[in-house]
Amino acid sequence: MLILGIDTSCDDTSASVVEDGVKIVSNIVSSQEAIHSKYGGIVPELASRRHIEMIWPVVREALRRADTGLDDLSAVSVCHGPGLIGSLLVGCSFAKAVCFSRGLPLVSVNHLEGHIFSCFLSDKEAHESGRPEFPFIALIVSGGHTSLYRVDGFGLYKELGRTRDDAAGEAYDKVSKLLGLGYPGGPVIDAMARQGDPRAVDLPRAYLPEDLDFSFSGLKTAVMNYLKGAKEVPVYDICAGFQQAVVDVLVRKTEWAALREGVGTVAVAGGVGANSLLRTDLARMGEKNGVRVFFPPIPLCTDNAAMIAAAGYQHFISNKLAGMDLNPVAYLPL
Ligand code: KG4
Ligand code: ZN
Repeated sequence: MLILGIDTSCDDTSASVVEDGVKIVSNIVSSQEAIHSKYGGIVPELASRRHIEMIWPVVREALRRADTGLDDLSAVSVCHGPGLIGSLLVGCSFAKAVCFSRGLPLVSVNHLEGHIFSCFLSDKEAHESGRPEFPFIALIVSGGHTSLYRVDGFGLYKELGRTRDDAAGEAYDKVSKLLGLGYPGGPVIDAMARQGDPRAVDLPRAYLPEDLDFSFSGLKTAVMNYLKGAKEVPVYDICAGFQQAVVDVLVRKTEWAALREGVGTVAVAGGVGANSLLRTDLARMGEKNGVRVFFPPIPLCTDNAAMIAAAGYQHFISNKLAGMDLNPVAYLPL
């Protein structure tokens, strides 16, 4: 069963063909990084215009690489939120037009649900370690979200905690801007942190005891204050100290969530899930507690349409179809 996934929730135009909800046949992501990087963040109007230009070429390429056509599809799965409304509108309108003209079923997927299902996908770097089994704790950590969920099955998601201010990826992007390192900040800080000393610059960690919520804005402000007072800026050490502070909190809260819920499996998703320190420190936490920790392959951590097709498959086999009146929603809780 082939599902075409479409994601235009933020600044990447993506289309993917996925077989039976788990096997990636093709996955095309057209990045808008070059357009937005000079502004230090995403400009929504530019993002939606670029989606309009790229949506058909990206979908056509996904079908070509999958050696398939629209008529071979079982359904089209589109992300309808949360995200930038103008960007979401492009993907939703396109998906509805395709389904209407070809008589195909349409399913709609919450972007966060898509991230959760990225852990079920396999590509060339297939999961040798298998896939997470329900129930598991999902740590969704991206540019727009930082949340912990208990996942008991498809459609059974209980939020355990969320950020009260900045998302972790947003903090990476803002600190990167402060340091003049460009957008997106995650990959560059991750790389530079490896050459710095995480103890050289003392930065705070908001553990918010007794709570599984997160807060990263104080950390960003601490970096800002440090920079104001510094004669010389030890960029590598700031990157290392900032990254260690973010990862320490993410790991500790995920550990608390798994122990509190008595759940022996953790799945990580979202752009910050590509972070090298987060991956090693979470794996270590898992070994210490006998918890299995799953990560998607790195290219599937950041936004992609394969995860939308994977979650869409679950909707489709559960007969949860969307109608032609589907509208995108900017703020859409899971
Ligand atoms: O999931 P994603 O592609 O988009 C959202 O749904 O937000 O995540 C993008 C975020 C950006 O904030 C980016 O800086 C961050 O993920 N990111 C990273 C890394 N790669 C991407 N953060 C830390 N380390 C990385 N290696
Ligand atoms: Zn995302």
